[in-house]
Amino acid sequence: MTVSVPAHAESFKYDQVTRYINDLIEKGDLKPGDKAPSLRNLSKQLSVSIATVSQSYLNLEDQGVLKAKPQSGFFVDSQVGQINDIPKSATTSSQPRKVRFGELFEEIFRNAVNPRIIPFGVSAPSVEYLPVKSLTRATRSIISRHPKRCMDFIFPPGDRKLREQITEQYRHTSTRVSADDIIITSGATEALSLSLQTVAKRGDIIAVESPTYFAVLRMIEKMGMLALEIDTDPETGMNLEALEEAFDTMDIKAVLASPNISNPLGCLMPEENKRALVNMLAERDIPMIEDDVYGSIYFGDKAPRPAKSYDLNNLVLSCSSFSKSLAPGYRIGWVLAGRYKNKIRELKQATFSATSSINQLAMAEFLSSGQYDRHLVRLRKDMRDQIDQGRYLVSKSFPEETCISKPQGGNVLWVEMPRGCNGIEIFNRALQQNIGVTPGILFSATRRFKNYLRVNCGAPWNEVNQAGMETLGKIVTDTLADSKSK
Ligand SMILES: Cc1ncc(COP(=O)(O)O)c(C=O)c1O
Repeated sequence: MTVSVPAHAESFKYDQVTRYINDLIEKGDLKPGDKAPSLRNLSKQLSVSIATVSQSYLNLEDQGVLKAKPQSGFFVDSQVGQINDIPKSATTSSQPRKVRFGELFEEIFRNAVNPRIIPFGVSAPSVEYLPVKSLTRATRSIISRHPKRCMDFIFPPGDRKLREQITEQYRHTSTRVSADDIIITSGATEALSLSLQTVAKRGDIIAVESPTYFAVLRMIEKMGMLALEIDTDPETGMNLEALEEAFDTMDIKAVLASPNISNPLGCLMPEENKRALVNMLAERDIPMIEDDVYGSIYFGDKAPRPAKSYDLNNLVLSCSSFSKSLAPGYRIGWVLAGRYKNKIRELKQATFSATSSINQLAMAEFLSSGQYDRHLVRLRKDMRDQIDQGRYLVSKSFPEETCISKPQGGNVLWVEMPRGCNGIEIFNRALQQNIGVTPGILFSATRRFKNYLRVNCGAPWNEVNQAGMETLGKIVTDTLADSKSK
């Protein structure tokens, strides 16, 4: 099976066909083994050329959705629909915990940046999907036009033009934001860290999703806070009833969550739940730290609104960055800090950690050229294709009982392997074969995700990466066999 990086030019009509077929399968109107509509009929029905339908069918064949039979046409692959979704999680113990990753964290990440390693262990779209040339052009242009500004500090809250451009982005989500509300940070990581330090102190309880992004747990560990893990539904996000119960019995100082596309589950909280969550916190005067880094990489038709857009009490600190959508290395993030704005600005100022001037100015230049929105349209489509194909490849390569998340955005899969598959052991074995992957144990302080992996689908499914997935599947199968024979 050879799959190329999706061509961008023909995008619209071709997508229409792909989506039409995927929707028929999803609704059950086309079942495994059924014949797909003929090229001619579908081209008439959707008013597209036969060549477009044919190209889309060939791509669906590469993704394992359709199978061509000589002289008979295309059929839905018998494996389609047989991917097990991640089950809803069993209730976690609702006790706040100290996080203790210690050495484990460092050990796992020592190899994450090694370019020889197949990058299933990071979480980012590869440069193939990023506008390298146009961003570099914007950067060169800003340096040659404003060399002195580039060399000088830009202190918090950060470059005004950049902040204004960021407010434009919030228009897509009907969120009213003023440039004065934004503080530019060095990536979302700094925004999250400043937010945590601002709303809580050592010993305080922070409610988080379970599973949650490990760097958040790492920050909680380093700041001496306690993590209270709240059940998180693979589709709808944090369980609000469980959270409410926790509020009744514990002194929770803040909630940290990603309502728009969590890492690792890829779930998307329904709008009514976001509103209910923000209201629940407002009633108790408890701040929410929103991690919105994947908010712009959604797969649905409509941009999801950040929780911030429901925040009438200025209690939500909404953190985001361009790391997942544009250039992780530029380290440009921000926080909309509500009533904590001054505290956050002071805290950033106090550490003299002004964010790179060149990168702020270049990002503002790029955003104001209008290219970002066009790039995002392509990136969403690319990541959706990458994820669809990633699910297919994992399901083909891993043991049959494996369950795979169905993300509603982003670029990672959350994979539950049969019990007996130890994620750390698989991580170590994979590393010996130059394959990176993230063991599930990192996504909880309770270590309850031992038999899980997070798999990045942000790198093109070329032959090397496909072979890497097959090898990873074999490692998982062998590990399972070894555990059974012990
Ligand atoms: C959920 C989540 N939040 C925050 C970050 C950090 O973003 P940045 O690189 O902008 O610091 C990441 C990066 O992987 C992430 O996955």
